[in-house]
Amino acid sequence: MDAASGLHSGAPAPNDLEAFWMPFTPNRAFKKTPRMIARAKDMHYYTPEGRAIIDAVAGLWCCNAGHQRDEIVKAIQDQAAELDYSPPFQFAHPRAFQLATRIAALAPGDLDHVFFTNSGSEAVDTALKIALAYHNIRGNGARQRLIGRERGYHGVGFGGISVGGIVSNRKLFGGLLNGVDHLPATYDRSKQAFCRGEPDWGAHLADELERIIALHDASTVAAVIVEPMAGSTGVLAPPKGYLERLRAICDKHGVLLIFDEVISGFGRLGFAFAAERYGVTPDMICFAKGVTSGAVPMGGVLVREGVHEAFMRGPDHVIELFHGYTYSAHPLACAAGLAALDLYEREDLFGRARRMESMFGDAFQALRDLPNVLDIRTIGLVAAVDLAPIDGSPGLRGYRALEHAFHEAGMMLRVTADTLVATPPLIVSEAQVGELADKFGKVIRAVA
Ligand SMILES: Cc1ncc(COP(=O)(O)O)c(C=O)c1O
Repeated sequence: MDAASGLHSGAPAPNDLEAFWMPFTPNRAFKKTPRMIARAKDMHYYTPEGRAIIDAVAGLWCCNAGHQRDEIVKAIQDQAAELDYSPPFQFAHPRAFQLATRIAALAPGDLDHVFFTNSGSEAVDTALKIALAYHNIRGNGARQRLIGRERGYHGVGFGGISVGGIVSNRKLFGGLLNGVDHLPATYDRSKQAFCRGEPDWGAHLADELERIIALHDASTVAAVIVEPMAGSTGVLAPPKGYLERLRAICDKHGVLLIFDEVISGFGRLGFAFAAERYGVTPDMICFAKGVTSGAVPMGGVLVREGVHEAFMRGPDHVIELFHGYTYSAHPLACAAGLAALDLYEREDLFGRARRMESMFGDAFQALRDLPNVLDIRTIGLVAAVDLAPIDGSPGLRGYRALEHAFHEAGMMLRVTADTLVATPPLIVSEAQVGELADKFGKVIRAVA
């Protein structure tokens, strides 16, 4: 103990940046020039010095109702004062049921049951486990293969990275799950560049599923999982007709279809779920992020009646699914979720996203002649701008864009390698869409 300071010797100085190993961040670069956030309100973040940063990305695709909405803040405060925690195994609190009912009502078809998790990664692992267990309890235990897609992102659990298709997220982590196969990615710049909405080219790529199923035999295939719109690898909208074909092939072969809507859920594409936009009902939907507008961690899986029903048998006192998390349906998350859904409904934020899609697309597609722009894709309230990589240093231009946006342009954007992404809170005004596109333009010129 240092008597003068009262600190243990070696205790970190206040605000020491060393201890926190930041996720999906180049830690050394960040810690040289940190991008610190102290507070937020509506469309803006504020640095500790009070500088306003317009949020082009709803935090991390999650704060769909904007930041620090009074209704959500109050719901969390009230809940914390009333019930901090109750176990979700063998006990429950009423708001868990209320929220599950509200989410099921938003989902299409008979996606009527909700299994709560704390994140998108857990939602994906949960859906994959339900798929395997579903076939098992129906006497089809050989159906063990899971099929994902190249360029898919399904979080960071072992299940998610196994079905995911991002090389860097997979290559250092061993053999992953057995028996997984992958559909080809749906993006081809030579056929789809500067596309607004769903590309015309590419529906035939769904037929690859027939080939994969034929290779392994349908009797060994449990489920297919895709993001309706691949978000994390740079916003790849599904080609027109593609998801319908996947659904038809899965139906033909008794394979479950899982949509990972962690990003596309809760209004991002102008509907509660992308499943509704495309008129395709999967057997399960993974959700997270927007369910609480990012205010408290929560995720979950929506499950169709027939799949759920298959588990509801055997003696009443026996657990039907040996799976769950200590914090499934946490009271604070449920309170935040109910308040977020109220806001989405009251302010018609999903409809608002739908109505703004066209002007949002115009604003971002107008950047196409700027230096290094290779492609721009817009859909819903999402835009991705591919920039040419700097020779020999892929990702460097993107990282510079991130830094310039934050430190010079007063904007938080998202980068994946050299792709810049905008996906703002659904409360964004038309003037703010203009501001975002303008700032994107400045950033692109600055990193030319
Ligand atoms: C489609 C998709 N699935 C899963 C996840 C993982 O969610 P989480 O980071 O909450 O585990 C994400 C996160 O961005 C995602 O985009």
